[in-house]
Amino acid sequence: MSGLSRGAPDKVTIKVRGDGSPLAETGSEVEYREEEKAKAAAAQAAAGRAGNEELFERARRVLPGGVNSPVRAMGQVGIDPVFIESARGAEVLDRQGRRYLDWVSSWGPMILGHADPEVLAAIEEAAGRGTSFGAATELEVELAEEVAERMPSVEMIRMTSSGTEAAMTAARLARAATGREVLVKFAGAYHGHSDGLLAEAGSGVATHGIPSGPGIPEAQAAGTVVIPWNDREAVAEALEKHKVAALFAEPVAANMGVVPPEEGYLEFLRQATARAGAMLVFDEVITGFRVARGGAQELFGIVPDLTVMGKIIGGGLPAAAVGGSRELMERLAPTGDVYQAGTLSGNPLAVSAGLATLRRLDDQAYSRLGVLTDRLVTGLKDLADEHGLTVASAPGLVTLFFSALPVKDFEDAKATDRERHAAFYRAMLERGIWLPPSQFEACFVSLAHDEIMIDRTLMAAAEALAATDPRRAVV
Ligand SMILES: Cc1ncc(COP(=O)(O)O)c(C=O)c1O
Repeated sequence: MSGLSRGAPDKVTIKVRGDGSPLAETGSEVEYREEEKAKAAAAQAAAGRAGNEELFERARRVLPGGVNSPVRAMGQVGIDPVFIESARGAEVLDRQGRRYLDWVSSWGPMILGHADPEVLAAIEEAAGRGTSFGAATELEVELAEEVAERMPSVEMIRMTSSGTEAAMTAARLARAATGREVLVKFAGAYHGHSDGLLAEAGSGVATHGIPSGPGIPEAQAAGTVVIPWNDREAVAEALEKHKVAALFAEPVAANMGVVPPEEGYLEFLRQATARAGAMLVFDEVITGFRVARGGAQELFGIVPDLTVMGKIIGGGLPAAAVGGSRELMERLAPTGDVYQAGTLSGNPLAVSAGLATLRRLDDQAYSRLGVLTDRLVTGLKDLADEHGLTVASAPGLVTLFFSALPVKDFEDAKATDRERHAAFYRAMLERGIWLPPSQFEACFVSLAHDEIMIDRTLMAAAEALAATDPRRAVV
């Protein structure tokens, strides 16, 4: 049974404009009536639609688990996946016209909120000129220039359609450049699902408790050394023991929940890899263009050898990239001997959406994102103290860990109370709050969120925590 049928999130009305600003503060009657009309239309359309349960039954017959990516399954929080019909601003609407305040933001790309008018206009304009040419375009040059301007470590990029491919390309480049084979990664980090980088991964792999072995050749697995995050000795040992081509790091780990680097840890990684002749690869698929204008490398002042980008760079359409110095990047074909290619790489629609998004992300946008994140974090910390929990965050990223102890690595993240997290998740969903359905993920703050929405989330969280705290459960 779908967990939704027992909830009543449709009671919750979040009145926001397309740009995310609250109608309650500035809205006119006309806009309010339009909102109501849209709601009525959604309810009417929903009446003729198959319900969530029925659709899930159909989906399961043709899609493994009914989903196209495991993180969308909600089994770990005890419910069936909820099928989404549309989204706007900071809201998602399900098939029954229920509205949820969205903290998933499509797992990161929607930093401006959903259906942002400028991003939509850019996509429409590009689509009008054709959706794919399989040839070079000016837009790709503009996007590469925009990225290079933001990240001084990146002189050139190669675009791909997914972060997985970009990380895979980074590994190949690093191996080619160093003439070495071993990759080092951190337990609980996720760099996409390529053979060499899946070992002890976070995100969906951790959520579903899946061993990373099946289907991966032993030789591939043996070529990857996995060590604990925030552990200096393990890094030193791995770099000493093996001829390491590259050390991959999410500079703020965000696929075991948010686990920031300890003070000085990224500097240590930079120095240790340089000393060992290994490449430092920052996987900024999540942190890039989110934690700062130039990503985590700007926030922490570290210069990696290669950077993996995704999510925001595609503005909600499939795009990702690997970037680095001219010297390294020109090892790629056609200038170099390292082969990498993609039919839809640098797709004009995705590049247009990415550019339209990046161009809005100026200093003011990041300071606003910081203010919003701080408000959410401060409120959650008060609640966390009351209920014996922990909050971890970085600009635009927040995780409420169901543990009283600080989480510094994957082992700590795995020691959290997942049952309690699941109960909290369901209680929040019933209150109209859409959270990532896993303890090993981050809430993604967007510029479509505002103070009213944050306060509403905190009020819901206060209720949900009170209702699900095993020490004083009332339901
Ligand atoms: C840090 C990180 N790297 C790589 C990836 C893989 O990106 P994609 O899902 O586009 O393949 C993800 C996906 O969430 C990610 O979070």
